Amino acid sequence: MIRLQVNGKVRDVDVDPDTPLLWVLREQMGLTGAKYGCGIGECGACTVHIDGEAVPSCTVPAGEAVGRKITTIEGLSGKAAEVLFRAWTQGDVPQCGYCQPGQIMQAAALLSTTPKPGDEEIEKAMSNVLCRCGTYQNIREAVQKAAKEMEP
Ligand code: FES
Ligand code: FES
Repeated sequence: MIRLQVNGKVRDVDVDPDTPLLWVLREQMGLTGAKYGCGIGECGACTVHIDGEAVPSCTVPAGEAVGRKITTIEGLSGKAAEVLFRAWTQGDVPQCGYCQPGQIMQAAALLSTTPKPGDEEIEKAMSNVLCRCGTYQNIREAVQKAAKEMEP
């Protein structure tokens, strides 16, 4: 049994501590926003926040997340989330949508630490999440728009 703190709630789950966090979130907790893409930390579809940092949850053994603050797209909140959700909707960003939770989690981590990112910083951060539908231009524009709204 391990105890995880996810989206502000403490949850006890009966899993092997080596189980990838992604599977615990999806299978044990029913949080299916984080998606399975590659399973090897390459595509970013499974991105969640651990202590505010964007990480591919397929590469993190659940046991390593014990005692840390895990946030999934279902629990994303705050100013960065607000402006990103708005920019994503207004920009009509998704196509199939599969990669989009990962994209938003990556963007939220960026804006939380760097409220006014330059184009290069956006490019670098967002290159961690792949999109098979090629929505990259829409994503970059939405992050730029959201970043502007972060300004006081
Ligand atoms: S499924 Fe985790 S990085 Fe691809
Ligand atoms: S919107 Fe389809 S994979 Fe990104």
